[in-house]
Amino acid sequence: MSLPTPHGGTLVQAYHPNYDTSLIEKEIEIDAIALSDLELIGVGLFSPLTGFLGKADYESVVEKLRLATGTVWSVPVTLPVTKGVAASLSKGETYKLTHNKEIYGVITVSEWYEPDLSKEAREVYKTEEHAHPGVKRLFERGDIYVAGEVTLTRKPDKGVAADVWLEPKETRALFEAKGWKTVVGFQTRNPVHRAHEYIQKAALETVDGLFLNPLVGETKSDDIPADVRLRSYRVLLENYYPKDRVQLAVYPAAMRYAGPREAIFHAIARKNFGCTHFIVGRDHAGVGDYYGTYDAQHIFSNFTEEELGIKPLFFEHSFYCNKCEGMASDKTCPHGYVDRVILSGTKVREMLRSGELPPSTFSRKEVIEVLIEGLNKAAAV
Ligand code: ADX
Repeated sequence: MSLPTPHGGTLVQAYHPNYDTSLIEKEIEIDAIALSDLELIGVGLFSPLTGFLGKADYESVVEKLRLATGTVWSVPVTLPVTKGVAASLSKGETYKLTHNKEIYGVITVSEWYEPDLSKEAREVYKTEEHAHPGVKRLFERGDIYVAGEVTLTRKPDKGVAADVWLEPKETRALFEAKGWKTVVGFQTRNPVHRAHEYIQKAALETVDGLFLNPLVGETKSDDIPADVRLRSYRVLLENYYPKDRVQLAVYPAAMRYAGPREAIFHAIARKNFGCTHFIVGRDHAGVGDYYGTYDAQHIFSNFTEEELGIKPLFFEHSFYCNKCEGMASDKTCPHGYVDRVILSGTKVREMLRSGELPPSTFSRKEVIEVLIEGLNKAAAV
């Protein structure tokens, strides 16, 4: 096996820090999600996308999980603006893309269109309920989508160290240099608890390298902040993982909470990073009970391995079993629910806030220490 070709054939390279924006007069102010999408397009993580989706691609993605060309693509990458902003646009014109008035890139506008947001919510998120954080954002972001090719001129500062802020061209070179022929990507928006570690290491038994790739873009307000999570990853890797078999790097995307569709989307970005395999466990990218526990695994059967170009590795819900005295899943453990250490993210946060320590069978003590320190710091601000 060798590293996969980027999705759609070539790695898009649209990051040009020396691009001269001084002669461009007009600008479009974009939100934090569009800013991270701009970065992901620019560095090639969203290859083959070279810009925000036009109407034909958008409708095709919403209805068929494919771009108009037929290439698999499961989540719309769009640039929403208000009707007022749309009324001021001209086709073919180039605009600066600004966030908080700072310039991050440019777009040459090819068209704009009014999306059917209710349909997008139903198809992509499987609900129109505003209680779903992805749906809530969808309806808040803007009524008109602007399409066009983009150039990233400046990368947004994520407040993370340079050693974990890698572009796909860099991770691909790193994997090659390490001699990894097979690399499994791991998406997470959480600290790495024992269940995560278990499935990562189970995968690592059969592949050359693990690419630990936490998402650090926009998340729900009650998810643990990225800087705290990064400290917890470092301490875990330092103590419990073989250094030459793991690479840590951030995934600067916004979390959509689109469950099954987002699992495909996540897999494609990791393929662009150079991964050959991708872990999908229980309720991947899920929120509340909007998706079935294994829906994010089942969706992969709609695509051939060739058209996806990255192999999903599926894992059952894993937990520590007191009777087995080890990590297990329904596939390997005959014991009952009472013997299993299963805690929801909400429960863990509640415990941490009230000074109660989750058991070491749920999370390594080093990770818990970092999380408590992070909570205390946040409380002190
Ligand atoms: S996610 O939104 O990024 O998917 P999370 O960080 O919790 O959330 O999960 C990261 C990956 O680990 C996902 O593939 C998820 O399905 C998997 N996962 C999380 N917890 C478990 C568990 N207890 N058993 C099996 N897989 C799990």
